[in-house]
Amino acid sequence: MDSALAKSTPLEFTPDQLPVHIGVIMDGNGRWAQARGKHRTEGHRAGVEALRRLITCAVEFDIKYLTIFSFSSENWQRPADEVNTILGLMKKFVASDVGTFVQNNVRVRILGSRVGLNNSVLKMIDDAEQRTQHCTGLQLNVAFNYGARSEMLDAAKSIAAKVASGEIQLDDIDENLFSQSLYTTGLPDPDVIFRTSGEQRLSNFLLWQAAYSEFVFSEEYWPDFDRASFLRLLDAYTGRKRRFGCVG
Ligand code: IPE
Ligand code: IPE
Ligand code: MG
Repeated sequence: MDSALAKSTPLEFTPDQLPVHIGVIMDGNGRWAQARGKHRTEGHRAGVEALRRLITCAVEFDIKYLTIFSFSSENWQRPADEVNTILGLMKKFVASDVGTFVQNNVRVRILGSRVGLNNSVLKMIDDAEQRTQHCTGLQLNVAFNYGARSEMLDAAKSIAAKVASGEIQLDDIDENLFSQSLYTTGLPDPDVIFRTSGEQRLSNFLLWQAAYSEFVFSEEYWPDFDRASFLRLLDAYTGRKRRFGCVG
């Protein structure tokens, strides 16, 4: 047992200490594979197994919302074979695991733009959302074809259209209305954003929603993520003092 595990067994976390909403930037699949002399696509395959471990942990710890960054709007610029592999793995993952989600009371929601997605991907999204819509446990939000800047532009446009049509007045625009106009409408802001692979940036993930999120970074590549990593994440988060601009 490593020291982080010894320090924080699950029993040491009381429910009110735990984050309600965890955002995860699953990064480092390609480097994980390259470090093993494998093709990058092998890293994405191994990354799916790590994702299953993450979901299992989130269910075990009764986390209410888990938002994972699975494919950014910028990731289309990667070589076509890598993009196709990632999309194929995602479709396979949803198809094979949706039954397990239902068994574990996990509700799936996809966050991102639908513009330009082909029919088979759209069907996969609709199926996953529809088949799990009655689930009331963990809500798994999959940020797919997601970019926070276009999310905010879309919100600005939809609000502008409502002002132009007279449905709302300029003074009705406030932080709450803006939040409710984002893809993440109805979700609480993430308490913590976790990123693997040593990179310390958001890469266009939840820019508006992360205003007061805690950030936790780890050096491991995403395919190496496991339960011990999850415990280290919880341990780091529970040690933070959140102030939201107030005094302690
Ligand atoms: C994360 O791993 C998966 C996606 C972005 C889809 P990467 O593919 O970015 O792996 P690295 O960062 O190149 O190692
Ligand atoms: C962010 O990782 C997107 C996902 C994890 C899906 P990237 O690997 O695309 O980010 P950069 O390019 O290192 O900023
Ligand atoms: Mg990366």
